[in-house]
Amino acid sequence: MNATAVHTIATAEDANKKAVHSDMISPRFYTTDFAAMDRISIEPVRAEWDKMMAEYEGDNNHDHFQRDEAFADEVAAGMASLSPEMRQEFLDFLVSSLTSEFSGCVLYNEIRKNVSNPEIKQLMTYLARDESRHAGFINLSLRDFNLGIDLGNLKRTKKYTFFKPKYIYYATYLSEKIGYARYITIFRQLEKHPEKRFHPIFRWFDLWCNDEFRHGESFALIMRANPHLLQGANKLWIRFFLLAVYATMYVRDHTRPMLHEAMGLDSSEYDYQVFRITTAITQQVFPLALDTDNPQFRRGLERLFALSKAMEQAKSQGGLLGKLKQGVCAVQAAATFARLYCMPVIEQDLSPQVRMEPAW
Ligand SMILES: [Fe+2]
Ligand SMILES: [Fe+2]
Repeated sequence: MNATAVHTIATAEDANKKAVHSDMISPRFYTTDFAAMDRISIEPVRAEWDKMMAEYEGDNNHDHFQRDEAFADEVAAGMASLSPEMRQEFLDFLVSSLTSEFSGCVLYNEIRKNVSNPEIKQLMTYLARDESRHAGFINLSLRDFNLGIDLGNLKRTKKYTFFKPKYIYYATYLSEKIGYARYITIFRQLEKHPEKRFHPIFRWFDLWCNDEFRHGESFALIMRANPHLLQGANKLWIRFFLLAVYATMYVRDHTRPMLHEAMGLDSSEYDYQVFRITTAITQQVFPLALDTDNPQFRRGLERLFALSKAMEQAKSQGGLLGKLKQGVCAVQAAATFARLYCMPVIEQDLSPQVRMEPAW
């Protein structure tokens, strides 16, 4: 399948192309150094680790990802109320959410198959189990519109990015916790305004996001058991991943403003709320946080979004001039990212106990 950009999702082929396509803001697939992962030890956090593994084994969401009787009627009523543009944004949301859920599933499964470290192997079995349920549940909703994603094909054809284990810990920890913060913020909003819940899938988000929260806890424990990952020059990497993940989310969310509007949310306010929740959670593991409420930080993110729009325009313009404009945008975006990276950060002391409750 050709991995070209898709702007409108009208057919299953479009949806599949969209999932396979890689660009700056689309969810990626990852692979890592399994031998290095084998050498990691979780002994310093053994008591908390065993408690967490017992929770995974208890599998309290085992029966959660089943549709109920009201589901189909709610889909029909809710979708009829959407404009064609809004429908597109929602489909885009489903495809990118499915791609990132499945990205976790593929990565965790590959680690499970390739490591012999018993703790990591066992953990990855549970994580892959959960993510496969999440991806499957979203895919059912795409299939309602005949837009199902062929997951086997996606696994075979999507490009993989290699990350060293420590980058996997920083990036997946963050994406799990951000996933939690995103789902719970939407769930709380629609709990207050059920009339704005235009699709039943949002009713599943509360228990669903507890899975993501727990997944994040696992990586927090791995990092706290290996404190060198959180010290010295690694702090620069943590800073980099925080910014890269936040900036990507901001730009991606702002490309579909109507989706948030339909829920009664403003994309920027939604994103800053998600950042605030994530920052509060990261005290369990990261010695620093980004100053996301600083006006200078916010201006930087706005500029990145403006540059990403200009980049899209230059791409569709094509030709030599289009290429030139793309180059200029890329340089400006790199400079903006660098300025954001150099902003002062908030130093924080790690919480004495690693584990936290999903209390938002
Ligand atoms: Fe998930
Ligand atoms: Fe997850």
